[in-house]
Amino acid sequence: MDNNISRRRFLQVAGISALGAAAGLAGCGQSRSESAASSASASASSIASASAASAGSASADSSASAASSQAEASKSDSLVLVFSRADENYVVGTVEVGNTMVLAQMIAEKTGADLFEIERVAAYPTGYDDCCDEALEEQRAGARSELKALPDIAGYDTIYFGFPCWWGDLPMPVYTAIEALDWTGKTISPFNTHEGSGESGMFSTLASECAGATVTEGLTMTGGTAQNDRGEAESKVDAWLASLQ
Ligand SMILES: Cc1cc2nc3c(=O)[nH]c(=O)nc-3n(C[C@H](O)[C@H](O)[C@H](O)COP(=O)(O)O)c2cc1C
Repeated sequence: MDNNISRRRFLQVAGISALGAAAGLAGCGQSRSESAASSASASASSIASASAASAGSASADSSASAASSQAEASKSDSLVLVFSRADENYVVGTVEVGNTMVLAQMIAEKTGADLFEIERVAAYPTGYDDCCDEALEEQRAGARSELKALPDIAGYDTIYFGFPCWWGDLPMPVYTAIEALDWTGKTISPFNTHEGSGESGMFSTLASECAGATVTEGLTMTGGTAQNDRGEAESKVDAWLASLQ
């Protein structure tokens, strides 16, 4: 797919004006050093995923074994479950820690929750345009992306569930995880990052797709704020967490 078409269509989904689009796309040219300097430490990519990771692809069947070791390692009754992508992105340039992951790490630190990263077996392209193209193809195909591992959520009451907006919807790997897990009795507190689309109906999608779960008020933030204005991001996270009490 032609990248210009891809970007134009993304902006339509995002509801961003031509003027805003020009500004946003200029932002993609931010240098690596600028964006890397503002990135959170990349070290905390995941806690739970390290113990839950199993060889091969994830499926509902493989989740039980993956998760038993995770449950042993964890004493928290809450989990931050997140999909996020680093590398080149819209507005923030090239980053070492994805925008939603920045928030996920903050939430895990503040709540003491474990953290599990949803990861596709095949990494997404590092280039923004290529990633947009591939994500759109997946969405059009209704793909259920193969995941590296699934968490065992049985021992968790509260799931802080984070993801970016991709083409106005949840990224396809998030659907794979949703459909493989048992959400009965869980409280889901959703959070997302975006660059214009807001939560784009994704929180109500969770409510309908995660059967048996209660979905609380969510947190929505631009990726640029999460990545480049940590003070503002932290204030919003604090206010949101307080509102959930
Ligand atoms: C494949 C792709 C599709 C996107 N689609 C949208 C969109 O429809 N609306 C929007 O506001 N932002 C969109 N964005 C921007 C992301 O939502 C935003 O950069 C987000 O903060 C990325 O989070 P992450 O770094 O955790 O992956 C898209 C970005 C990518 C890479």
